[in-house]
Amino acid sequence: MRIRPRRLRRTTVLREALAETRLAREQLVQPHFVLPDANASSDIAAMPGIQRMGTRRLIARVGADLELGLASVLLFGLYDEKDALGSAARADDGLIPYAVRALREAFGERLTIVTDVCLCASTEHGHCGVLRDGQVQNDETLPLLAEMALAHARAGADVVAPSDMMDGRVAALRDALDQQGLSATAILSYSTKFASAFYGPFREAAASAPKSGDRKSYQLDPRNLREAVRESVLDEREGADMLMVKPALAYLDVIAAVRARCALPLAAYNVSGEYSMVKAAAEKGWVDERVIVPEILRSFVRAGADLVISYHAREALEKGWIA
Ligand code: PBG
Repeated sequence: MRIRPRRLRRTTVLREALAETRLAREQLVQPHFVLPDANASSDIAAMPGIQRMGTRRLIARVGADLELGLASVLLFGLYDEKDALGSAARADDGLIPYAVRALREAFGERLTIVTDVCLCASTEHGHCGVLRDGQVQNDETLPLLAEMALAHARAGADVVAPSDMMDGRVAALRDALDQQGLSATAILSYSTKFASAFYGPFREAAASAPKSGDRKSYQLDPRNLREAVRESVLDEREGADMLMVKPALAYLDVIAAVRARCALPLAAYNVSGEYSMVKAAAEKGWVDERVIVPEILRSFVRAGADLVISYHAREALEKGWIA
């Protein structure tokens, strides 16, 4: 046998030198669930190791994460006051603007602050847009999302990330931001987001499950690849600065396809259900978390992602699972 690929797999040093994919800590984004009460914290049953936190606790945690080299956060607001139009999420003095200002004051430009823009955690019906006659209204939702994005941007968010999947929201947010002199605020669009059962634990964490029906009239059908790419292409045209594929693990082909068709930086969102499955299997001793987590996180980079949003991020760095 002349040709032996195994020659190059012989030693650790050789394998490290020839690794085709590398994941740097700078690529990781840690999601956080932010509570209204600054001193509060609570566990999330389906997401062991992840806590909802008020702003004071969040600052302590983010400070520790910065020491690990984890310098990007994605913030979700958890609202106890909900109404038909998600007023709490759009207030200039709401809980996310408050958290953004506090984080900015504490860490300045060392921290990249990304905020989720969506109404579902602040509407009493739990849908991502305005609900009328049982239908989620696209165009009526756009100005509300723009208001929410403006509140976050004025507070100092670096990046706003619309996750609602209404048509035209990237253009609506870009126009609103530019008109208000916030042209430096970037948009990370959840451009290719599927209607997925992998969001189950998140909806427990954020109490954001729809009270009626499901999200299939706005989020993508998991069976569709062409439509998935089209959504990202459209958001690129509308003025998004970065794109996203979500969930990530069952959609590596989608990450690769969007990477091939779009020039913008691309994020992979390793969502709550993907996290919970690993945690549950690891607790039972069925998989080795130390090995499976880096294998999963690097698969997103191999598929073509530039950024990796994952609940595993902090633990993976803290425990040295990724260098
Ligand atoms: C809000 C939103 C969801 C997630 C991120 N933003 C839930 C949903 O669309 O139902 C899911 C994140 C996760 O599961 O980790 N629209």
